[in-house]
Amino acid sequence: MSRVLVCCAWPYANGPVHVGHVTGSLLPADIFARFNRLVGNEVLMVSGSDMHGAPITVSADKEKVPPETIADRYHALNSKAISDLGIAFDLYTSTHTHNHEQVTQDVFVRLLEKGHLEKKSTPQFYCGRCGRFLPDRYVEGKCPHCGYERARGDQCDSCGKDLNAEELMDAKCQLCGEVPELKETEHFFLKLSHFTEQLIRYAEANGHWRPHVRAFTLNVLKEGLADRPITRDISWGVPVPVKGFEDKRIYVWFEAVIGYLSASVEWAKLENRAEDWRRFWTDPECKSYYFLGKDNIVFHTIIWPAMLLGYGGLNLPYDVPANQFMTLEGQKFSKSMGVSIDIPDMLVKFRPDIVRYYLAANMPEMKDSEFSWEDFAARTNNELVATYGNFLHRTLSFTFKNFGEIPAKGALDERDKAALARVSESAVEVREALSGCEFKRAMKTIMDLAQLGNQYFDAVAPWSLVGTDRTRCGTVLHISLLISKALAVMAWPFLPFSSESIWKQLRLEGTIEETGWKGIEMPLKEGEKMDKPAPQFAKVDVKSEGDFQEFAALDLRIGKVIDVSAHPNADKLYLMEVDIGRPITMISGLKEFYTSEQLKTKTLVVVTNLEPATIRGVKSQGMLLAAEEDKKLALLTPERDLPAGTQISSGMDPGKRQLSFKEFQKLDMRAGTGLGGDPAMLDLGSRRVRCAEVRPDVGKRYAAFVKGDKALVLHGPEDVRIVFDTDIPAGAKIR
Ligand code: MF3
Ligand code: ZN
Repeated sequence: MSRVLVCCAWPYANGPVHVGHVTGSLLPADIFARFNRLVGNEVLMVSGSDMHGAPITVSADKEKVPPETIADRYHALNSKAISDLGIAFDLYTSTHTHNHEQVTQDVFVRLLEKGHLEKKSTPQFYCGRCGRFLPDRYVEGKCPHCGYERARGDQCDSCGKDLNAEELMDAKCQLCGEVPELKETEHFFLKLSHFTEQLIRYAEANGHWRPHVRAFTLNVLKEGLADRPITRDISWGVPVPVKGFEDKRIYVWFEAVIGYLSASVEWAKLENRAEDWRRFWTDPECKSYYFLGKDNIVFHTIIWPAMLLGYGGLNLPYDVPANQFMTLEGQKFSKSMGVSIDIPDMLVKFRPDIVRYYLAANMPEMKDSEFSWEDFAARTNNELVATYGNFLHRTLSFTFKNFGEIPAKGALDERDKAALARVSESAVEVREALSGCEFKRAMKTIMDLAQLGNQYFDAVAPWSLVGTDRTRCGTVLHISLLISKALAVMAWPFLPFSSESIWKQLRLEGTIEETGWKGIEMPLKEGEKMDKPAPQFAKVDVKSEGDFQEFAALDLRIGKVIDVSAHPNADKLYLMEVDIGRPITMISGLKEFYTSEQLKTKTLVVVTNLEPATIRGVKSQGMLLAAEEDKKLALLTPERDLPAGTQISSGMDPGKRQLSFKEFQKLDMRAGTGLGGDPAMLDLGSRRVRCAEVRPDVGKRYAAFVKGDKALVLHGPEDVRIVFDTDIPAGAKIR
């Protein structure tokens, strides 16, 4: 038995975790940790929310709330999504804890004492109007590379290049628009140059690293390392434990990587074994693995190792199996550009193992991969459902139907023996692949074995034996069940939920987690009564709303009104604060229809991805949907309560690219009355249309997308339909 530390990059707590985080780091870390637990290794897997840094203060400034509000909100949301997806951390904490502050300051002080930190004065933008130094992210200007007008001081979102704020043309304070000036400020620098030689030897010695990780690291090292500033002029973050630096904070990257260590310390404390973190950090026999995306490589193969070398006595990363990027229908995932598929949304629609399968089978291990909904459906349906799920289900259900118990294994012929030999060979290959972090190869081997299972089942044809040779029939089913069991155990690191369920259906004791890898070769209990098996996976249909594809570009969310006030510059308008999972400000022209008191209790449907409009000097970040006809107005609302932020009928499209008002106006949405029938019909006043997918109740009025002679009733999860808060004639237009 050996010991393994599994580290996973810490997602920033300024937005929901998305598909990029999962396929890039969370899922490979989890598969690797699960595999190691399965083969009996002692594992500690830690990570948490990266709570500091400018991205979070920028969001906080926008919403006019303290940074904690943002960080706590997404920490809660992401912790839940991560655990719902079956990512089994020993501890998923955050960098905003007392423990983390202590450990970080201890590392800082030790490096300072050992002469690895140096105080230097450097020029930094200072905004006279705001009276503060501006971190690079707070400076905006023209990109020197591509000319994009609204590049940020740290990076250009248009061409993707990393920038320094000083390189921007026409730099402005992002907070107030003032032209900032350069002013001297004191900061601590990490003397990376102290470690260059050691780091080159370290990277060269690690021949087991992925080639792209090692080549990239050696490249950076050979160009020579500049000393890096590790403090910032901001007030959110870990305080600098040095007199005179009270107004500054430790740079987020310097402290976030320390999170791996501080989380291990916190875990040991929580387990009441305060010193046990050392078993994972100071014992040279314990190997540490760091899972992350390629944009984080430098921090894990150079900066963190340099800090560890400077600190002394702690293990360097053994492997950093960084992944490349997954792109989203051609574009790079980017929070700031609104290109994203959020995991909480995806888990509303799909079971966790389905999400895990696609993101593992399409993982960008060696080169970038591409997420598309079509590919997602194709791989789920053709591989997970038609090959893997099909073999398991036909085996279990045929056995249950004809025997009702685990049949006895009689004499084996050559074909049976060959099939079992393939099981053992596959187990060896999967084990080897997973030990080397080759996740796609392992998954492929498992799929090939499922394919073999199907071929075996077709060849032995139990349905033709059941009436003629029951003993032989029992034997081939027994072999098929043995293959099923082996598949479930091997696939457990990838598909933990369905694997455990198969284990139960095979009437085996305990769980796969408790049994371990040896479950692959374990015998079945002949004569054990079986329960009626349930299929593990259903086909996914991303085109069922295909007729309504253009509506999928809408990002509709449930919004709950928080506050309503008069627009400062327009009598007919209200200014509304609405919670759509996050608070936004909206302008609405509802004054002639509702008092502000009436509106305060409303649950609305809000379009959240329209180009923000500035109406009389106030920016509206969303638009509520209402139906209007003949001076009558009705607000869209769910037929029963749904939480703020719930997605409504946004189809399968990521649906988050900004929509112009013109594009929005092309979409036909109307009030319609349910008419019954099969297929159900909807009455739009002047005509009747067929309803796709979601059934309306007869006589009730619903909000619907309309396209030609078809309609789709707007709905949330579990088909909760969208209705109106007051009566409105059928056919009324929704806008
Ligand atoms: N929050 C960073 C990101 O999302 C990753 C931090 S990894 C850590 O890119 F090692 F610094 F914690
Ligand atoms: Zn300013």
